[in-house]
Amino acid sequence: MKPIKIALFASGTGSNAETIIRYFEHHSAVEIVFVLSNKSHAPIVEKAKSLGVSLIICNNQQVEDESYLVNLCKSQDIDYIILAGFLRKIPDTLIAFYPEKIINIHPSLLPKFGGAGMYGKFVHEAVIAAHEKETGISIHYVSEEFDSGRIIAQFSVPIQIDDTVEAIQEKVHQLEHQHFAPTIEREILDM
Ligand code: GRF
Repeated sequence: MKPIKIALFASGTGSNAETIIRYFEHHSAVEIVFVLSNKSHAPIVEKAKSLGVSLIICNNQQVEDESYLVNLCKSQDIDYIILAGFLRKIPDTLIAFYPEKIINIHPSLLPKFGGAGMYGKFVHEAVIAAHEKETGISIHYVSEEFDSGRIIAQFSVPIQIDDTVEAIQEKVHQLEHQHFAPTIEREILDM
């Protein structure tokens, strides 16, 4: 049977992308076809190369183009797109072509601390400022509006009174590495 083909989009460190690549490396039903990055010097670029995954570097103009990503994914027969720290807005044309086939991970318990400007440390700073008792991750489909597509799964972690932004970031990253790949697997294979 033809494997389910995934494209991974990442702009930064790529620790989640790496975890996903390793998780599906010898999977019989899922294939990571390529990693796409809009940052040629991002650490994910070297990671993808050393893991032997095809790499596509594009520029921001191409990301914004109405047809570039659609044509690229179509030509590679992609079934699902996974955003693992991809810091550009996905064009509506791609979302329309892949309805509920583009999955993102967000480092908070959405709908809390989502939306424009809520990424990276800004999320954890806002969580501390709001005196939250817990935070976590949301794995969700991408829709036209930032961080508001259907939620697939959420996982939480308690916040201690003296937790710094860095401490929360570390806890959240651990949750991401533990849950992102298995959640993708369950969702796309309907397990
Ligand atoms: C993660 O925290 C994820 O929630 C967010 O971007 C970050 C990417 O981290 N969307 P990494 O590049 O995978 O380490």
